[in-house]
Amino acid sequence: MKTPSEELSHLSDQGLLRALRKITPTSPTKLEIDGRDFVNFSSNDYLGLSKHPALIEAAQKALLDFGTGSTASRLVCGSLSLFHELEESLALSKKTEAALTFANGYATAMGVIPALVGKDDTIILDKLAHACLIDAARLSEATLRVFPHNDLNKLEKLLNSSKGRTLVITESVFSMDGDLCPLAEIIALKEKHGALLLLDEAHAVGVLGPNGQGLAEELGLQDQVDFQMGTLGKALGSAGGYLAASRSWIDLLINKARSFIYSTAPPPAQAAASLAALELINTQEGHDLRARLQNHCQSLNSRTPIIPKIIGENDQALAASRDLYDQGLLVPAIRYPTVPRGSARLRITLSAAHTDQQLRALQEAL
Ligand SMILES: Cc1ncc(COP(=O)(O)O)c(C=O)c1O
Repeated sequence: MKTPSEELSHLSDQGLLRALRKITPTSPTKLEIDGRDFVNFSSNDYLGLSKHPALIEAAQKALLDFGTGSTASRLVCGSLSLFHELEESLALSKKTEAALTFANGYATAMGVIPALVGKDDTIILDKLAHACLIDAARLSEATLRVFPHNDLNKLEKLLNSSKGRTLVITESVFSMDGDLCPLAEIIALKEKHGALLLLDEAHAVGVLGPNGQGLAEELGLQDQVDFQMGTLGKALGSAGGYLAASRSWIDLLINKARSFIYSTAPPPAQAAASLAALELINTQEGHDLRARLQNHCQSLNSRTPIIPKIIGENDQALAASRDLYDQGLLVPAIRYPTVPRGSARLRITLSAAHTDQQLRALQEAL
């Protein structure tokens, strides 16, 4: 049996060792490391809401009104009105009958997917889907079939041979590549074959759609997605995860989703900040922030604020990240197992809060 140190040195030999870096944020886009200033191009705070006064004020009020913790699962000690308000607001935004919130996006996937399908069923998953979707699919014990990224022909073949309840799972904006799924075509296929679709909008909410509700909203397809999943921890600047769907599916999840049932509800302040963020993205200010973000994306020739620069080898990606670090720019190197082997990359993320000057510094450095 290998010792932890042997495992760690094996990771290090492959250029796969990870370590935590201590930071102090000083503004929505700046932070300090060991007394040095950096511009942050690594967060998913796409609209800069995590430090927005409206969210902070809502969280502070909830802290004073309800205290720091929720003290038990919502099924055990009662369900705070704030969570209901948040879920009603999510359902309204997503144009569904209902929604359910979880501690984070990861817990959402882990609770939802095994509650929707089991061992007699089939999951058909995009190859580049996020780790939480893969882990949850495995946990469900459903037969797992994977199609090459965005490959509609292969998806159709897998739909032809699926058994039991069939759940297609994909993302709207892919977290490490920043590209979009062909949503209209996927919907046409899942409808033709009587399958269900779970769409993870983690990186699209706040960013795409006339009201910032994501790709399904942008394409006018919200009512054709069976399960709209997302996180409150990225563009919405808070923390938490959600699933929006019909009333009966949500009622089933309340009864079956283990990460919801067997976990203390998130802090009330988290829900209050999320609710404030959902309101904000629908205001003129929200629209302006989205427009500013889109301008930033265009100036780097990207459709979305996730910009990968594929390098290949782990060591080279780490060296490129270090070069930028030396110039005061924080851009992470993303390696296996987050991305496939041989596709290590820099992952740049943009925020509406970045200044034009910060973007120019990035472009010059790149
Ligand atoms: C596509 C995708 N889905 C789900 C998650 C998980 O969300 P959370 O960070 O709220 O756990 C992430 C984020 O890490 C993600 O990128």
